Amino acid sequence: MQKIIVLNSKGGCGKTTIATNIASYYAQQGMKTALMDYDPQGSSTRWLSLRPKEKETIFGVQASSQPGSTQTRAFQLRLPPGTERVVIDAPAGITGQDLVNFVCQVDIILIPVLPSPIDIHAATGFIKDLLLVGKIRNHGVRVAVLANRVRENTLVYQSLKKFLNSLKLPLIASLRDTQHYVQAAERGIGVHELWIKRAEQDLLQWQHILAWLEDSRAELIARQRHVP
Ligand SMILES: Nc1ncnc2c1ncn2[C@@H]1O[C@H](COP(=O)(O)OP(=O)(O)O)[C@@H](O)[C@H]1O
Ligand SMILES: [Mg+2]
Repeated sequence: MQKIIVLNSKGGCGKTTIATNIASYYAQQGMKTALMDYDPQGSSTRWLSLRPKEKETIFGVQASSQPGSTQTRAFQLRLPPGTERVVIDAPAGITGQDLVNFVCQVDIILIPVLPSPIDIHAATGFIKDLLLVGKIRNHGVRVAVLANRVRENTLVYQSLKKFLNSLKLPLIASLRDTQHYVQAAERGIGVHELWIKRAEQDLLQWQHILAWLEDSRAELIARQRHVP
């Protein structure tokens, strides 16, 4: 099982968009996929409720609310046996112990960043926190950043690249700003399920993310084999 969290302390950078697109891609590929919504705003739960019946099922977990009196937290968070991919949609503003708790339970952290000066500034602070507080490298979690809603190769974007280079974190992809994401979100699907010729450009951009996720999985399996 591979657990992927889409994380950034800032709202509106594309966490739900990335999480729902990854989940729908894996489901469409025939993998048993779960989507855990830790955000009280419930955007990915809503997306799941819009998902057409004929599309591959994604198991949804509403993880932001506390369980009712007849349920335990473990029961609330249970996944169907044989789940192959778990995608976690995180809320904005996670810091401190909450951040550590998330980091400890995942294999991969994806951080979407908008290429604006304000967002990059906030993201650099968040990433420093994550590396420090989350002790990522001790947990063997792989971290990558992706630029979202990119309009052009701006100077701002270059400064994000430079910062990530200094931390040896990869910038694995840039997703362009397009209504395709908005249209897909309204229909409970991902861009991989949109049959629009123009979305081909977006699928090409997604190839970088999917290839990196696959690499990370292969590396994790190799590492687990080497554990005595
Ligand atoms: N690449 C993109 N192109 C166009 N709109 C986007 C893109 N990514 C996200 N959006 C839109 O931006 C808004 C915020 O994205 P969302 O995924 O909800 O962010 P978050 O979960 O981090 O708050 C949403 O309306 C979403 O449809
Ligand atoms: Mg969200």
